[in-house]
Amino acid sequence: MKAIVQHRYGTADVLHVAEIDRPEPREGEVLIRVRAAGVDRGVVHLVTGLPYLLRLGFGLRGPRTPVRGMDVAGVVEAVGPGVTRFRPGEEVFGICKGSFAEYATARQDRLAAKPANLSFEEAAAVPVSGTTALQGVGTLQQDQRVLVIGAGGGVGTFAVQVARAAGARVTGVCGPGKADLVRSLGAEQVVDYTRQEVEGRYDVVLDIAGNRPLSRLRRLLVPGGRLEIMGGEGGGRLTGGMHRQLGAMLLSPFVRERLHMLVSPVREDDLRRLAGLLESGQMKPVVGRTYPLDEAPDAVRYVAGNHALGKVVLTL
Ligand SMILES: NC(=O)c1ccc[n+]([C@@H]2O[C@H](COP(=O)([O-])OP(=O)(O)OC[C@H]3O[C@@H](n4cnc5c(N)ncnc54)[C@H](OP(=O)(O)O)[C@@H]3O)[C@@H](O)[C@H]2O)c1
Repeated sequence: MKAIVQHRYGTADVLHVAEIDRPEPREGEVLIRVRAAGVDRGVVHLVTGLPYLLRLGFGLRGPRTPVRGMDVAGVVEAVGPGVTRFRPGEEVFGICKGSFAEYATARQDRLAAKPANLSFEEAAAVPVSGTTALQGVGTLQQDQRVLVIGAGGGVGTFAVQVARAAGARVTGVCGPGKADLVRSLGAEQVVDYTRQEVEGRYDVVLDIAGNRPLSRLRRLLVPGGRLEIMGGEGGGRLTGGMHRQLGAMLLSPFVRERLHMLVSPVREDDLRRLAGLLESGQMKPVVGRTYPLDEAPDAVRYVAGNHALGKVVLTL
């Protein structure tokens, strides 16, 4: 089968098209014929091997697994022993091992039925970013004020919609050219961070992009408010933006605000909740760009540029 593979860390140029063996589904796994694959920010980290800290988990000299991509939408081709939830021919979406390929395997508990009202491209945009948004937004009360920093990107476009669906009053922070989109997703107010400082006080701040200092983010919270540090590029090559997460963890017991860092594992019940929101029309994936599989390096370059619009998806 055709796949996009990588044997060393570097720029998107380390990715190339190769013919490799089709994976076999093991106990509890499903083999998927991939129809679309989302390009989440984690792909960029794995291609570059940055920050270095991640190499401890993924391979010191090069990635242990050569095929990139986690987000998948496709059709079940075959099932391994012990798979009870899916049958060949069913349309699914979720998280797999190496979705930048014609076929990929996934654990059955990392998949859900693809919402019938979504295309494969739309469904492939959801798993990593939608789950992160859902977990970061967490539980909200009606009319709580939520600030979403990075509202026009992969995670942010979901976060605005999840918070709005929960009854929050959302302010989105994004760069030029994204204000109309962010408003259309349900934000009451939009701040273009290149023209204006982010002001005001919020019950919840979702910090998805921009690497703003912890002190600055805390000033945006009402007393007792909640800060979720969900992402943010930049920082040193060793730890990336992790110093803010560590700072939040250490400081949290001593301050009135609740400071959290989010590392979001993709959970099956989150996929089902997302499917519910998508099927009821309360949420719609924003697919900013699509690329054919062979052009995966261009897709990764675009996401690495740090100003992506919505989610980028590879089509097969
Ligand atoms: N915690 C987890 O488990 C988890 C899971 C997924 C992702 N993440 C992390 O979350 C972060 C965002 O991921 P993503 O997929 O949403 O990335 P993305 O698709 O690249 O979106 C980031 C967005 O932020 C905007 N942005 C850039 N600089 C900004 C600034 N200074 N202030 C406000 N917005 C800015 C970008 O465009 P504009 O500047 O044009 O608005 C872009 O739309 C990444 O660091 C990723 O690693 C974490």
